[in-house]
Amino acid sequence: MAIATVIIPTLNEEENIDNLLERLVEVQRGNPFAFDILFVDSASEDETQQKVLAWQKRAPVRLLAQKFNVGLAGAVMAGARHATADLVVVMDADLSHPPEDIPRLLQPLVAGTSNMSLGSRYTAGSAMPDWPVGRKIKSRLATIPARMFCDVKDPLSGFFAIERDLLVSLPGTVPGFKIALALLAQYRKTIRVVEIPIVFCDRNCGSSKMSCSVVFAYLRQLVSLFARHYPGR
Ligand code: GDD
Ligand code: MN
Repeated sequence: MAIATVIIPTLNEEENIDNLLERLVEVQRGNPFAFDILFVDSASEDETQQKVLAWQKRAPVRLLAQKFNVGLAGAVMAGARHATADLVVVMDADLSHPPEDIPRLLQPLVAGTSNMSLGSRYTAGSAMPDWPVGRKIKSRLATIPARMFCDVKDPLSGFFAIERDLLVSLPGTVPGFKIALALLAQYRKTIRVVEIPIVFCDRNCGSSKMSCSVVFAYLRQLVSLFARHYPGR
C-alpha cells in the first residue's frame, strides 16, 4: 500500500519521461516509503502521454490526461484530488528535482514532525551547480516578496511533500506555477514546515514553460496575497 503519491505535472516533456521514470523506479526499489506515481498532463502535443502509458506495465504509474491546459498549479490540484495516498510529493518532470531526494522529503511527514517538507535551493547544503550567477540573483530576487507571506527561504520551490488533505482543502484556484507559496501562505499559522536542501540541476531535455504569462500570474498572486494578509494597508 502506497503511503505517498508522487504528482508530476507535464506539458510537452516527452524526452524526459523515460529518464525520470527509470530513476523513480530505482528509488522505489530501495525506498522504505512506498509511493505511486501520478502524471497530470495538460494536453501535451508531443508523445508525453504515450511515453507515460508505456510504463504502466512496469511500474505503478497513472496518467490523468486533461483536455485543456489548466496550468502547472491547476494540474497539481487536479492530481491531489485523484491521489490515493495520504501524503503527496509534487515534482517537475524535467529532472531538476532529484527523485533520489523523495525519501528525505517524506521522512519528516512519516515521522509526524512536519506536515510539509520543501525541497529548498536556498538553505544550508543546497546547491545550483548549473546556474550562472545572473540567473541565481534573479531567482533569489523573485523570492523576496513571497517571503512576506511565509517563513521559508525558498517559497518558490516546485518540489515538496505535504499531507494530501491540505492540498485538497486549499481554497480557490492558483494561477501559474507557485502552488507551494499558496500553501505556505494559506496555512502559515498552523503548518509545520521543514526545508530540505537539494541540488537543483538545470532541466535535462526540452524547454522551460516559464513565460511572461507565468510571471504575470505570479505578480497577480502576490497582489491577492497582499490584499488578503495585510488588509487595510
Ligand atoms: N500540466 C501542466 N500544465 N504542466 C506544466 C505546465 C502546464 O501548464 N507548465 C509547466 N508544466 C510542467 C512542466 O512540464 C514541468 O514538469 C514542470 O511543470 C515545471 O515546468 P518548467 O517549465 O520546468 O518550469 P521552470 O523550471 O521554469 O520552473 C520550475 O522551477 C522553478 C524553480 O526554479 C517550477 O517548479 C517553478 O514552480 C519553480 O519556481
Ligand atoms: Mn524546469
